[in-house]
Parts: sequence; C-alpha cells; structure tokens
Amino acid sequence: MNSQPSAGGTLAATPMAAGRGGDTGAQEAQGAPGTPGTPGAPGAPGAPGDFRVWPGDPATFTTSRMQAIRHNFDRHPLMQLGELAQLAKRLHPHKQCRFIVPGATQTSEFDHQDTDVAGRSIDEVFERIEEPRSWIALYNVETDPVYRGFLAEVAATVRPLVEREQPGMYQVGGFIFISAPPSVTPFHIDRENNFWLQVRGRKVMSVFDHTDRDLVSAAARDNFILYGQNTRVKSDEYLSRARHFHVGPGDGVYFPSTSPHMTRCEPGSARPGDGVSISIGVVFYTEVTRRHAYVHALNDALRRRGFSPREPGESDGLDRLKALGGRALVWVGKTFKGYKPSASF
Ligand SMILES: [Fe+2]
Repeated sequence: MNSQPSAGGTLAATPMAAGRGGDTGAQEAQGAPGTPGTPGAPGAPGAPGDFRVWPGDPATFTTSRMQAIRHNFDRHPLMQLGELAQLAKRLHPHKQCRFIVPGATQTSEFDHQDTDVAGRSIDEVFERIEEPRSWIALYNVETDPVYRGFLAEVAATVRPLVEREQPGMYQVGGFIFISAPPSVTPFHIDRENNFWLQVRGRKVMSVFDHTDRDLVSAAARDNFILYGQNTRVKSDEYLSRARHFHVGPGDGVYFPSTSPHMTRCEPGSARPGDGVSISIGVVFYTEVTRRHAYVHALNDALRRRGFSPREPGESDGLDRLKALGGRALVWVGKTFKGYKPSASF
C-alpha cells in the first residue's frame, strides 16, 4: 500500500537482472445498482455475515478493471470513530499511525511521518479530528488481531468474485484513512489489488487506468514492484485521464494492482455532523499478481539490456513462461545479493 519502504538489496547486480509496501473521466454516481433492498443485495446488517461488498453488476465484475462497488461495512461496529481511535492507540507505538506532511497536494510527493506534526497525542488528534486539514492514516491494520478478523470478514465476501479470475488471494491487509476537508492523499500506486470502501463522510477518489504507460512508464512500474520506489504524476495534463468516483458511505471502488490513484475531501462536500471522512483500502495479492511480479523482475532485467519486453497481462502463456525466469532472478538476488522481496513475490 502507500509508500511502502523499499526492499533491501537489489537484483541489479545479478548477471541477468536489474534492479522490489482527476476531471474528464466519468463521474461515478453514488447509489450504484445493488443497494440494500434491491434484488441480489444484502439487507440491513445486524448479525455476523450480514456485512457485504458487492459490485453494481456481479455478472460483469472483473478484477482487471476499475469499477464502482457498494458495501455496508460503514455500519460495522469496528468502522466507527471511537473504535478506530482505540485501534490508533494500539498501532501508534509501532509507527503504524501516519501523519501527512503539511502542504501536500494531489501531485506532490506522498510524504508522511509517524508522529503528529504538532506533537499531539492520539487522543488529542481524535478529539480534534473534525478540524480542517486533519489527516491520519492507520497502516497495516491486519497486524491487530481484532482488525485482522475484520479484514477476513471483508475478504470472505469478495473471495468468490475475485477467485473466479484470480485464485489464491493472500496477504489481505488494511489501510484506514481518516481526514477532514480540505485534505488530500497524493497520487501514488500500490502493489496490491484494492477494494477501497468509503465508510463515513464524502470524498473524491480519482483512479487512473493501470495500463496507461504514459502516466507511469513500464520501467517505473517494474521498479516499483521490485523496490517500492513510488512515482509521481508526470504532468498535470495527465490528471484529465482519471475517473473520478464521488463517494459517500456505502460507496467504494475496486481497482487493480498499480492503478494510480489519489483522493480529495472538499470543504463543500461535508454535511452537518458528517465532516470527517473515513475510508479503508482492503488490499490483497493473488496468484496472478505474484506471477506478474516475477514478470516485472524479468522485464526489468531485459529492459536494462536494451529490450522492450511485453507487459505482464498481455499474454497469459508468455507470462507463465517469463515468470519462471523472473523467479530464478529473484531467488539469485535473495540468496546472493541481499535482496528482500516484498509480499508481491
Ligand atoms: Fe493507495
């Protein structure tokens, strides 16, 4: 997920290798088909098993394309502000509470730190969370046993949809963003597939096509998968390529691994008593993302030797073959070069 640390070591020193955590787009309407009460959608939650994530159209859902989704986890007890404040207090000693550096814009570096800029305690941060520009993120909430169970609950509702195309979901993680307008999360990419759920308040989630090589070059994407070095939007002109999902509680967006994305909370979007935005990215890998990671490893090596290899995802047969070579490169890097592969592999 966002701005993961770079892996140690490199593959670059190995003989065959190189170098491993917007407004013309469609404005997505809220209340996509399948809201509670409509056929095929869950009813009002009240007991375990009543919480769900569901696509607007299950028949056309695909893991290879961004799309609007719906959910009712906004009513889940563990997604309420008081419970999240308790979670933040448990995560803070482990540096898993992140605070954005003041002055961030959607196109600036995604810089964040593990202490509040004003030196406030977690209690103080949450007491004043409705103040403009508040921003705290809770990283890797799967490390908390209670929230690991929550993530398993979410994952169980999407697994049948995901695994019909991408078997072997693993490493389900969660990243929770709590903010008050005006605030942003800058442009970045992540390694995992993402079910991103808006829980409270309103936000604009802008997502770009993960195959747009003008926006993020093939070499930059290889580098990110291998080393976690993130990328910035090249130019404001590319921002027009985003799809903008205007979301409120119960809305969400699914997007595949390495889809660039950024968010904004606008002052005008807040409703009385609803000024705080809470969202959670439920992220995961699959056998497909793992195979693609190995293809990225091989492609990175080939690119450094002057080739222009085909991107992962273009040919399943070729990917399977190339993944064998990528796997060998990663093994060599891990065994002899101090390379520490991410969970992508
Ligand atoms: Fe992200």
